[in-house]
Amino acid sequence: MTASCGVEPLHLEVNGQACSIPGVPREATLLHLVRNDLGLNGPKYGCGLGQCGACTVHVDGVAARACVIPAHGVAGRAITTLEGLGTRGRWHPVQAAFEDAQAAQCGYCLNGMVMQAAALLARDPHASEARIRSELSGNLCRCGTHIEILDAVQRAAVGMREVMRP
Ligand code: FES
Ligand code: FES
Repeated sequence: MTASCGVEPLHLEVNGQACSIPGVPREATLLHLVRNDLGLNGPKYGCGLGQCGACTVHVDGVAARACVIPAHGVAGRAITTLEGLGTRGRWHPVQAAFEDAQAAQCGYCLNGMVMQAAALLARDPHASEARIRSELSGNLCRCGTHIEILDAVQRAAVGMREVMRP
């Protein structure tokens, strides 16, 4: 995958593909890079301050807020966006559970909810309700669909345990 936008090549992996992206400004954020240079619009711009979670991606498998991470700060790292988690027909268990639970109203927060939950359940597929609530407490949903989201993540945990069963 390549994108042409200027001078300094930035090398990283995005959704399993090696990328070399020229001319990324020093001040560019990871969110700007994935949305504007790579056209991956799963991550959303919400607060731009690291406080709402709408922009969440995985950096080496860890949930991170792309709006406050310098793009050059993730050189050489593996980035996963919502697009890399799963695709229609081959949803990640968390995506499938959110669809099954109909856990959305406007859907703006869902990228962050899904990515945060996926990172948690990859580490701990037996996460308790309290652990899930704690993990998602920094992800804001202005529509108030928290009950449905919690239900979806608990369903997803069951799916993750099945996928991870030896
Ligand atoms: S847009 Fe990144 S945390 Fe709100
Ligand atoms: S469903 Fe609208 S912000 Fe969460």
